[in-house]
Amino acid sequence: MKYQFEDLKDAVVIITGSGRGIGKGIAEVFADYGSKIVITDIDADTAKATAAEIAQKGVETLSYICDVSKYDQVEAMVADVAAKWGKIDILVNNAGITMDGMFLRMKPEQWQKVIDINLTGTYNCTSAVVQVMRKAKKGAIINISSIAAGGNPGQANYSASKAGVIGFTKALGKELAPMGIRVNAIAPGFIQTAMTDKIPEKLREQMLQAIPMKRPGQPEDIAKAILFLASGLASYITAQVIDVNGGLSSL
Ligand SMILES: NC(=O)c1ccc[n+]([C@@H]2O[C@H](COP(=O)([O-])OP(=O)(O)OC[C@H]3O[C@@H](n4cnc5c(N)ncnc54)[C@H](O)[C@@H]3O)[C@@H](O)[C@H]2O)c1
Repeated sequence: MKYQFEDLKDAVVIITGSGRGIGKGIAEVFADYGSKIVITDIDADTAKATAAEIAQKGVETLSYICDVSKYDQVEAMVADVAAKWGKIDILVNNAGITMDGMFLRMKPEQWQKVIDINLTGTYNCTSAVVQVMRKAKKGAIINISSIAAGGNPGQANYSASKAGVIGFTKALGKELAPMGIRVNAIAPGFIQTAMTDKIPEKLREQMLQAIPMKRPGQPEDIAKAILFLASGLASYITAQVIDVNGGLSSL
């Protein structure tokens, strides 16, 4: 058969922040299609545990402790993957944090840390990985933005970082297209993870009620869209953002 995601078998996939949550869900789905999985996370315990869990699916895995906001750590991780496996086919820039607060009380550190991890972290990983992909003249990069890129009160830092990810995706998609590297983004709505578990219950309930599909998204819902964008099925798609949100139009 022609389109069976065969291109994902043995493809080397780096997923940042994949010790838990959406990143872990992405790793599981790529493993189901036979990809070689690189788990990277700032949290050593979850990175190791998740890599061990994924390996039980019968695929090769590597795990790294890597803070995406630190260029030297990212460079070392990418160099090691390239040395061990000889190529990098897919990068998923998933690592991200929230440090919410109303703007009048938002401290400079609160602003900077969210930008450093969500936006600069995306730059850092992409910068290092593109050096490997350009030699192969192929690759797929998928960035995780958010529905909050549209502007969410109490999330000026997060919304700015995720809107930045969209601009980055559109610019780079066009720039790298002649090199055979596609760059796209997913903008998730409300996905059930530790990140959304920390939202106060009343607000969480209101958000859930606003979702036309009347359920929170699961990491697998995001992973399936990423799998599509990474695969040959999306061979003519670049510089795009796909909303995966159960019909929710804003938070
Ligand atoms: N959950 C949602 O509803 C939702 C919605 C839209 C977008 N997103 C985005 O999806 C991505 C994953 O979110 P999640 O819900 O799985 O969150 P999560 O908090 O469950 O997982 C985030 C992971 O990133 C890791 N991480 C944090 N800082 C890091 C750093 N500096 N370097 C490397 N790893 C780091 C954490 O250790 C954790 O394993 C984030 O970019 C988030 O902004 C989530």
